[in-house]
Amino acid sequence: MDGVFLTHSAEETRALAEKLASEAQAGDVVALHGDLGAGKTVFAGGFAKGLGVPYPEDVVSPTYTLLQVHEGGRLPLYHFDVYRLEDEEEAAEIGLDEYLFGSGVCLIEWPSRVEGLLPEAGRIDVRISRTAGGFDDREITIKKIQE
Ligand SMILES: Nc1ncnc2c1ncn2[C@@H]1O[C@H](COP(=O)(O)OP(=O)(O)O)[C@@H](O)[C@H]1O
Ligand SMILES: [Mg+2]
Repeated sequence: MDGVFLTHSAEETRALAEKLASEAQAGDVVALHGDLGAGKTVFAGGFAKGLGVPYPEDVVSPTYTLLQVHEGGRLPLYHFDVYRLEDEEEAAEIGLDEYLFGSGVCLIEWPSRVEGLLPEAGRIDVRISRTAGGFDDREITIKKIQE
């Protein structure tokens, strides 16, 4: 689903994420790039809905827990926010690797913090940014890194 998309509301961003989730496969790793307030967590909520997670509205910023697991959908969803991670060693301690190479889908906010630990081939990079347009406009680039 590679492309550059423009959304004009949180709802539109959720809908786009929902569509990406409908194509998700076990083991997928989605790196969610974007500044604070860009819409990464909104995107994660839409993605959860697309996987059929029973309570996608429970997808909130997991900043203080680093990881929230959402089960009950087509695939387990591992939602990381590694903003507060001290170093890559701490990522190893929370077992990031097991999730990355597990049978669910990983969504990672602030992926640059764990750059060296993420697989490259097959990873899906999502970049969300504000635009020069309206306050609620976002440009969202989705790009799967070729295997
Ligand atoms: N087009 C849009 N896409 C996503 N979020 C939007 C959009 N327009 C406005 N928003 C708002 O921007 C905020 C994004 O917050 P959040 O997803 O928590 O950001 P992040 O996780 O990137 O820090 C929400 O309050 C949301 O309602
Ligand atoms: Mg967030």
